[in-house]
Amino acid sequence: MAPLIELSGITKSYGQVDALNGVDLTLHDNEIIGLIGDNGAGKSTLIKILSGVETFDAGIMRIGGDAVDPGRHTVKTARNMGIETVFQDKSLGESQPIWRNFFMGRHRTNALGMIRVAHEKKEAMDVLTKVLGLKGAGLSADAPVSVLSGGERQGLAIGRAMYFNARVVILDEPTTALAVKEVGKVLGFARALKADGKSGIFVSHNLHHVHDVADRFLFLQRGRVVHEARKADETPESLMATLMKWS
Ligand SMILES: Nc1ncnc2c1ncn2[C@@H]1O[C@H](COP(=O)(O)OP(=O)(O)OP(=O)(O)O)[C@@H](O)[C@H]1O
Ligand SMILES: [Mg+2]
Repeated sequence: MAPLIELSGITKSYGQVDALNGVDLTLHDNEIIGLIGDNGAGKSTLIKILSGVETFDAGIMRIGGDAVDPGRHTVKTARNMGIETVFQDKSLGESQPIWRNFFMGRHRTNALGMIRVAHEKKEAMDVLTKVLGLKGAGLSADAPVSVLSGGERQGLAIGRAMYFNARVVILDEPTTALAVKEVGKVLGFARALKADGKSGIFVSHNLHHVHDVADRFLFLQRGRVVHEARKADETPESLMATLMKWS
């Protein structure tokens, strides 16, 4: 079976800045890759390219074995191919009620084309409470997203990715600026994705979090993959030592 994602020689410049300079990456079925690198290494650029937010200048990107035309890769086509990206909070409509946000862009409609409101409310709450185990006081289908805590917001986004059956879930710095308890929840969600048979890419500056969640690690420096490692051979401390060496 072809790998879920295969990048080879991916290059991306912003004017004079070479954000990515010939990146190779292979993501297999039910595997989570941790992307590690200093500020400006190119991690977010790589994720934006995978999720269709940005295009690439050169190289080959294959998803499920099929080459992707950089001119035609958009957030929508990426989603259709099963790639969901959870950005820190930018992807969440703050003033929308939770249930609407959950089904954003993919509402369930009846034969007349009307949104099945009661059904969507129940489905959304089932995923958030039963599947993800969220139980905060502010959590009800009609409450606006703005009442949710940072960890609950991540849960809502990850829950959406799980519910719509994404094959690959990409998390860019999901634990930054969260309280300790919420970090625990988000790491739990990431483990649930893996247990659910999905694959993922996890970006964080916290090497304990990356080590906890990922099976394999790629170190990026100045737009290049400079080192690769497997979880069995590493501890959070050894990842830190490698990061220091390559920074
Ligand atoms: N839209 C843009 N225009 C110009 N330069 C950009 C743009 N986006 C990123 N860059 C540059 O590309 C390089 C890689 O940035 P990127 O955001 O991918 O880094 P990163 O590894 O995610 O860093 P961080 O850990 O700080 O989030 C940086 O030098 C950055 O300044
Ligand atoms: Mg970044």
